[in-house]
Amino acid sequence: MESSDIRNDLTEILVTEAEIHAKLRELAARIDADYAGKDPLLVGVLKGAVVTMADLSRALSIHVETDWMAVSSYGSSTKSSGVVQIRKDLDTDLAGRHVLIVEDIIDSGLTLSWLLENFASRGAASLEVCALLRKPDAAKVEIDCKYVGFDIPSDFVVGYGLDYDERYRNLRDVAILAPHVYETAS
Ligand code: PRP
Repeated sequence: MESSDIRNDLTEILVTEAEIHAKLRELAARIDADYAGKDPLLVGVLKGAVVTMADLSRALSIHVETDWMAVSSYGSSTKSSGVVQIRKDLDTDLAGRHVLIVEDIIDSGLTLSWLLENFASRGAASLEVCALLRKPDAAKVEIDCKYVGFDIPSDFVVGYGLDYDERYRNLRDVAILAPHVYETAS
């Protein structure tokens, strides 16, 4: 491997690209059935959900619309407090819409907890969550997530949209980041 190869920074591939795609096909089949005739609005939460949204939405057979939110975060204190700041709001009026939030990961659950409350006040006809990954041991609040890909341990994971310091989002698998990467970071 070249020294610049991303894979040098990983200790373990946790979920392979093939496993992710198989799981997204399963979830898409459920979503196709549950939302038939409802023209749901898929809301992706930037930036991590970009890759999940791209693959999940293309695995669907039904008509959907997509929109994006950018939220948070002014550092770790924001995350632990659960106070979220909107950086980019939706372009779409949620009134009467069937909304499915698409996330790459539920970690503490604080982001989604805030988003669900915020969206609930906008008059959506229904509101559900689809998350590729969930860390049950890291939950600070319980999130009612109808479509979950994989429950994973609370390791530092990157890839498939997930970053460390904005890098690794382009890794095709979900992998555990080697401690030497963040322990030597300044
Ligand atoms: C990640 C992820 C979720 C959130 C989950 O986003 O995409 O939105 O954290 O964490 P929580 O359950 O503890 O709230 P992040 O804030 O890292 O931004 P990014 O998507 O731009 O990487």
